[in-house]
Amino acid sequence: MPQSVMMLGGGIIGLSCAMEAALRGYEVSVVESGTFGGQASGAAAGMLAPYSENTDQPDAFFRLCLQSLNLYEPWIKKVEELSGMTTDWIRSGSLNVYRHEADLLPLQSRIRWHNAWGAKAELVEGEALRNLEPGLSHDIAAALYCPEESHIYAPSLVAALETACRKLGVKLWDQAGELTELAFHESGVTVGLTGLPQISADRIVICTGAWSGALARWLDISIPIHPIRGQICSYESVPDDLRHMIFSSQAYWVNKPVGRIVCGASEDVAGFNSSVTDRGIQRLIRASERWLPRLADKETAHRWAGLRPATMDGMPLIGSVEGKPSAIMAAGHYRNGILLSPVTAMLACDLLDGRGDTSLIAPFSPNRFTALRAV
Ligand code: GLY
Repeated sequence: MPQSVMMLGGGIIGLSCAMEAALRGYEVSVVESGTFGGQASGAAAGMLAPYSENTDQPDAFFRLCLQSLNLYEPWIKKVEELSGMTTDWIRSGSLNVYRHEADLLPLQSRIRWHNAWGAKAELVEGEALRNLEPGLSHDIAAALYCPEESHIYAPSLVAALETACRKLGVKLWDQAGELTELAFHESGVTVGLTGLPQISADRIVICTGAWSGALARWLDISIPIHPIRGQICSYESVPDDLRHMIFSSQAYWVNKPVGRIVCGASEDVAGFNSSVTDRGIQRLIRASERWLPRLADKETAHRWAGLRPATMDGMPLIGSVEGKPSAIMAAGHYRNGILLSPVTAMLACDLLDGRGDTSLIAPFSPNRFTALRAV
């Protein structure tokens, strides 16, 4: 009989782990307290941008992001084939834009290490930059152009993953309510939730995003994951309004095939409050006017927010839980959950299979905060 695995949490990480585990022959269930992809996953701008999101150095986190980007093509092919749906993946490339000449020196060193890691990143200025992206403000001095970066429409990816899981026979439970019990025993794990009868499995993968900290009392480890709100707005658009993803020091912009330029995102601490504030959105509107003057005359079409799962050291928790042989964690992906979903699914399932690249996974050990328990 195949081993049963429960994914606790039905965001992009839980659904990705579920699809991969089902493909590897496990009997899989996903338990989601609300709706699938209803939190950070659905709110995300869906940028697959390891270079733009890691500007300082090629550390372990950057390498994980890059590995996941390299997995994306076969991964998405699998998701789309299994589901029969599109994920609206657009290979737009990105432009990191700068106004001041003083920014050019750090940019040169960034380009050097990006190139060393396989990116075709280059500096574009003046006429060449205008031709590449005509809508940019004319006082932008230069941009780092990274053709490898792309974006996906997160709601389409969630819907396609959910359908792929269903077609693979994954049992999907949404609206399961609050977690009331997580009990480990010889033969596996039992979970109690307010909206479901008690359910059990041989193994569990914890994919509860910003809500993971509350599980520390059952897992006996310290889980310093906390929510950071991202407020976002969008403008109506046509494809030629914006050809690339644009990153500035104040905001980013992504033109989605559903006819919207998405502009994000704030990073504010508001507990588990995922409402938008006028102050947060006005800041994005001012940035839009400044960097993309064409947006100055437009009203926002939509405003929303999501809660990113931030960790104390900025890196996710991926790995086996010490003292709980049936538990694996895959949470705390902060700004990069969509990008990191394929590599997280592979790593979590390699652990289920009892193998895996320990050198790659060691920096992300969920047990690395254990010393915090004593203070
Ligand atoms: N990945 C972009 C953000 O979190 O806003």
